Amino acid sequence: MSLTKRSTRRRPGRSAVLLLAVCGVAAALTAGPAAAAGQETLHDLASAQGRYFGSATDNPELSDSAYTDTLGSEFGQITPGNSMKWDTTEPQQGRFDFARGDAITGFAQAHGQTVRGHTLVWHSQLPGWVSALPSAQVEAAMVNHITEVAGHYRGSVAAWDVVNEPFNDDGTFRTSPFYDAMGSDYIATALRAAHAADPDARLYINDYNTEGLGAKSDAMYDLVSGLVAEGVPVDGVGFQGHLAVQYGFPGGMRQNLQRFADLGLDVAVTELDVRMQLPAGAAGLATQATYYRDVVEACLGVERCVGITVWDYTDKYSWVPGAFPGQGAANLYDDNLRPKPAYAAVRAALGDDGGGGPAGPGALRARYRSNDSSVSDNQIKPGLQLVNTGGAAVDLSGVTLRYWFTGDNGASSYGTWCDWSPLGCSTLTHRVAAMSSPHTGADHYLEVGFGSGSLAPGTSTGEMQLRLSKTDWSNFDETDDYSHGAGDSYADAPKVTVYVDGELVWGLEP
Ligand code: XIL
Repeated sequence: MSLTKRSTRRRPGRSAVLLLAVCGVAAALTAGPAAAAGQETLHDLASAQGRYFGSATDNPELSDSAYTDTLGSEFGQITPGNSMKWDTTEPQQGRFDFARGDAITGFAQAHGQTVRGHTLVWHSQLPGWVSALPSAQVEAAMVNHITEVAGHYRGSVAAWDVVNEPFNDDGTFRTSPFYDAMGSDYIATALRAAHAADPDARLYINDYNTEGLGAKSDAMYDLVSGLVAEGVPVDGVGFQGHLAVQYGFPGGMRQNLQRFADLGLDVAVTELDVRMQLPAGAAGLATQATYYRDVVEACLGVERCVGITVWDYTDKYSWVPGAFPGQGAANLYDDNLRPKPAYAAVRAALGDDGGGGPAGPGALRARYRSNDSSVSDNQIKPGLQLVNTGGAAVDLSGVTLRYWFTGDNGASSYGTWCDWSPLGCSTLTHRVAAMSSPHTGADHYLEVGFGSGSLAPGTSTGEMQLRLSKTDWSNFDETDDYSHGAGDSYADAPKVTVYVDGELVWGLEP
C-alpha cells in the first residue's frame, strides 16, 4: 500500500470525511480540525505532489490541545517519537505494553493520518534484559519482538523502520546486541520477520548522516543493494534528516536519494529538523528556512521519495535541546506554536501558490505584541506592525489587518482607539466587526486600515497601538482569543491576518 493518503482539501465549517485505504480495507475517518480559511495544509500541498507531510509526536504532548489542533490538521502522517520503541513495548522479556503506541495510532485514525512505526530493532532505548541475553538467545528474542509488535500494529501502521541506525559514521556496522550475535545478517532476519508479521507494511532501514553522498550513505547503498539482490523484503530507505546549520547542507542529497530509488526502493525523509546554536537569530532562522526548502526540493526531485516527516513540528517539543545542549530552534514552529520562516519556505517549496498562509519573500507580514497588562480586564490592546519584506513599495490604501478575538459576555457594540502610531493615528482606520460564523477563539475581529500612503520596500509601519472595549465596559477573557499572544516583544504573527483589496496575503484565519 502507499503511505500517501488521498489528497484532501480541508476547509472550515465542513467536516470532511476521508476515505483512507488501510491495508486494503476502506475505513471512513473524520478529518482533523479544519485548516485556516483559504489555506491548504502542508499535507494538502504535499499530497498534490503525490507525497505525504508528517510529524513525529509523543504521548505527553497529546494533552496539549493547541498542539494537537495543528498536529491533527496540518499533517497527514505521524510517527511516534518514543512509544513504539523496544524499551516501551517490551520492557521485560515477553511482557508487551502497547498502551502508548495505541494512543498514537488512535490519534492518527481519528484524524485520517497514516502512521510510520518506529522502530523495531535499534541499539538505543533497548531494555537491559536484551543486552544481558546470552548471544545464542538474541535472534529468537529479536524475532519474537518483531513478530509481536508488528503483528499488534498490523493494519494500523503503514510503514516500519524495521532497523534503525545500523551504521557508524565511517560506514562500518555499528555494534549492538544484534550485530554482536548475528553479524550483519540480523538485518535480513529482522526484515523477514517483519514481513511475516505484517505483509502489507512498507519495510524500511533508517539512519542519519546518510542524506548526502558519503561513506555512510555508500555503506547503506551497499547494504540495501545486497538485500534487494537477495530478495530480502525491504521496501524503502529512511533518511532521518537531523541537520544543523553549522555543519552545512548535505552534499548531493537529491542524487543520493535517486540512487536508492533506482534500486526500486521508496525513499523518505523520516525525522527532519534543522538545529542551530541558541539563542537563535534572524540569520540562523533564515539559513534554516533554506535547509528545509532544500530538503523538500530534494524529495520532490525524486519520484520515489514518498514523503517527509518532521521530528515534531514545534520547538516546544523538540528533542534537540535535550540531546545537543546549547542547540535548538530546530523545528517549523516556535515554542509558542507560531510558524517560523522555515514553515513559509516549506510551503513555498511544496508549491503553495500564495493563496493564504504566511507568504514567502516579497510579501507583507503582520507583527504583534500584547500591550495588555491584564488579560481579564475590559480592554484589549494589541500592538501591531505591518512589514513590507518585498522589493517594491506597497500602496497602503487597500491594505487591512485583522486581530481576531472573542467578545465574551456583555454588549455587542464596541469602541476602538488608536493610542499611538508613528504614521499618525489620524491616518489609520479601525473598527470591530462581528463574524457571521464564529470559530474557536474568534467571534469578532478588530480591523485596521490605512486611508492612504505607501510602505517602502524593507520598511515597517512601526508600532500601531490599538485598543478596544465593549460599550458596556464589561470584561474580556483574552486567554482564548485566536490572535492573542503572551509575548511582550514583537514577533511575526500568522494569527493576525493581512489583506490586500480584501484578499488574504498573510496569516491564517481562525
Ligand atoms: C529521540 C526522541 O525524540 C527523544 O524523545 C528520545 O529521548 C531519544 O530519541 N533518531 C531516532 C529517533 O531514530 O528515535 C530519536 O528520537 C532521534 C534520533
